[in-house]
Amino acid sequence: MERWRTIIEPFRIKSVEPIRMTTEPERRRWLEAAGYNLFNLHADDVIVDLLTDSGTGAMSSEQWAGLQRGDESYAGSRSFYRFLEAVRDLFPFRHVIPTHQGRAAEKILFSVVAGAGKAIPNNNHFDTTRANIESTGAEAVDLVIAEGRRASTVHPFKGNVDLDALDAFIRERGPNNVPVVFVTVTNNSGGGQPVSLENLRGVREVCDRYGLPLFLDACRFAENAWFVRQREPGFETTPIPEIVRQMAALADGMTMSAKKDGLANIGGWLAMDDDGVAEQCRNLLILTEGFPTYGGLAGRDLDAIAQGLREVVDEDYLRYRIRSTAYLGEALERAGIPVVQPIGGHAVYIDARALLPHIPPLEYPGQALANALYVEGGIRGVEIGTVMFGRHPDGSETAAAMDLVRLAIPRRTYTQSHVDYVVEVVLGVAERAADLRGYRIVEEPPQLRHFTARFAPLS
Ligand code: F0G
Repeated sequence: MERWRTIIEPFRIKSVEPIRMTTEPERRRWLEAAGYNLFNLHADDVIVDLLTDSGTGAMSSEQWAGLQRGDESYAGSRSFYRFLEAVRDLFPFRHVIPTHQGRAAEKILFSVVAGAGKAIPNNNHFDTTRANIESTGAEAVDLVIAEGRRASTVHPFKGNVDLDALDAFIRERGPNNVPVVFVTVTNNSGGGQPVSLENLRGVREVCDRYGLPLFLDACRFAENAWFVRQREPGFETTPIPEIVRQMAALADGMTMSAKKDGLANIGGWLAMDDDGVAEQCRNLLILTEGFPTYGGLAGRDLDAIAQGLREVVDEDYLRYRIRSTAYLGEALERAGIPVVQPIGGHAVYIDARALLPHIPPLEYPGQALANALYVEGGIRGVEIGTVMFGRHPDGSETAAAMDLVRLAIPRRTYTQSHVDYVVEVVLGVAERAADLRGYRIVEEPPQLRHFTARFAPLS
């Protein structure tokens, strides 16, 4: 690798999708009609869509070819066996159960192992994970290290679990009430921050002390492995697939959304070693997703995932992927925009509470910033803060730990000039930050309110 040269996109583009250019007055109208919630927009009205990196990436020509090879047999299709082989090459668990996406794997697993009186720790639960745990009556608890809760603190593995807190938590609740310990790699809700192998080994030791299983929420496993290779002593020359296997070897199972590091537009899986739990999960799968060799997916989707898993551990891809996210983050940082440090793998998180100190958390500074970015330049990010996490099962509302706006980068989708445009728009909004106002919620569902809530601007 020649270090003095630009790290370019390691692909050429052979199919393009036009972007419709829009004007600021149009965007103001559409935002109002959407109840000031960017989830309600028509995607055609967005110029650069950074809402999520989930299922929004571009597939390779080999993945599109894989769609043609898809075997649509109801049971035992060739596509399933290709999928199984690709998953097991990285995650050699005894049971691999395909699902239509990550949250379906969560729903099935927690229906089997969670329930009233139970508690499930994680570094930070993603919102669907938390909701699927809470909907069984169990409690979802975040035990990330203290550095992981402070936006501006630099630490190479801010996704690490606080091992003392984990041990104390299990003792306090009693191991019988903790059915599984989770670790999310990379830690999405905590800023896309990686977890070190050393920390995973530590979590494994705590689990062994109490006889508890350890599961990975492995959505962004390849990005996590790249950070391990870059930042953890002793892994400088370890091949990425080998780092992934070492992560898997410390766990008893995993949930996965193939819409992230599966490089696919849909899909996921649940995997584990435990025969008894796997059998119960398969029985539920048949009820809700489908037969265990397709689990809510078409055969062709399984082929796209199998090929995606081979491409995602490619070093040229990961070098470009992590560098292109850092490129956006560093440009914002240089211009004085407060961003979560260090820059995560799949997204840049702007600290809206720091940028808009005049808007209190319960007036949703993240929502205010996300909406302003849309009006200014047609960019769609997502609030990760008090709107997403502020409402509790008992109906109360408190400020989230941080109020962030996530700009998630779809995989292999946008070019460097798209990203330069995003930087210009953010700087435009930052110049008039003092003029931005907060919001109040006028309509919200009881769970996962950020998807459908409607807002009104405060004057
Ligand atoms: N776990 C993590 C860490 C996630 O980031 C997601 C999805 C899921 C589980 C659920 O997977 O969407 O396939 O059902 N995250 C997306 C995001 C939606 O925008 O961060 P899914």
